[in-house]
Amino acid sequence: MREIIIITGAGKGIGKSIALDFAKARVNNHNFQPLLILASRTASDLETVATQCRSYGAETDCIQTDIADMTEVDRLVTTTMERYGTIDCLVNNAGVGRFKALAEMTEEDFDYTMATNLKGTFFLTQKVFAVMEKKRSGHIFFITSIAAETTFKSSSLYSMSKFGQKGLVETIRLYARACNVKITNVMPGAVYTPMWGEVPDTLTNLMMMPEDISAPVVHAYLTAERTSIEELVIRPVGGDIAE
Ligand SMILES: NC(=O)c1ccc[n+]([C@@H]2O[C@H](COP(=O)([O-])OP(=O)(O)OC[C@H]3O[C@@H](n4cnc5c(N)ncnc54)[C@H](OP(=O)(O)O)[C@@H]3O)[C@@H](O)[C@H]2O)c1
Repeated sequence: MREIIIITGAGKGIGKSIALDFAKARVNNHNFQPLLILASRTASDLETVATQCRSYGAETDCIQTDIADMTEVDRLVTTTMERYGTIDCLVNNAGVGRFKALAEMTEEDFDYTMATNLKGTFFLTQKVFAVMEKKRSGHIFFITSIAAETTFKSSSLYSMSKFGQKGLVETIRLYARACNVKITNVMPGAVYTPMWGEVPDTLTNLMMMPEDISAPVVHAYLTAERTSIEELVIRPVGGDIAE
């Protein structure tokens, strides 16, 4: 049976790798038929990822979405429901980060960070969870961060937003356990992705790669029906690198 999987921020970095690993999982397991709904703000990125996913035999649908815009969040869910009638998995991966000293953070930085990481993630989750609660099955992943539990001097707004996401994870789990829905909080340390911009080799050598996160995510989704992998904390072997 087809499994309808929404991945936000699927155009780059960790989200792209999650999409590709779901598609690749189909190669060794023909009973697994993912239909990947790829969502982010840049349509051209989504088309590139979709082409790669289809080369592994997965079906795809690109829905250009800014999750900071509640009309677009609503459209992502209603379009998916109209086209496919259900949602089996949501990967809340889309996220933004602006890293600088506390004194340099502006109101615009605050609003930009919270609109995606908190408001968009909350309302998308609320709408998708309603679908899963009704059918009494489903799996929601949150790609939060080790910054949901650890602070760094340059990450005040980012950490606030990620601590907030963790609050949502723990609240929604109270509802989810009662209706057979799985919730997984994925907390990666530093991963080399476009989010970091230009990074010197000395630093990239200390970081993880997107596939180090996507492989455990897909494994958690495909694990036994009776089992919920609730938390994945994934760090570079040398520990955290930011200050
Ligand atoms: N990289 C790390 O070290 C690290 C560590 C821990 C956790 N994380 C978390 O992992 C997630 C993915 O990060 P990444 O490093 O892969 O970042 P990235 O390379 O910057 O990719 C982020 C993706 O999210 C999309 N996106 C951003 N804002 C969006 C919005 N408002 N609506 C829809 N899509 C949006 C971006 O596409 P568009 O710009 O085209 O929309 C892009 O596809 C984030 O939640 C991040 O906080 C990252």
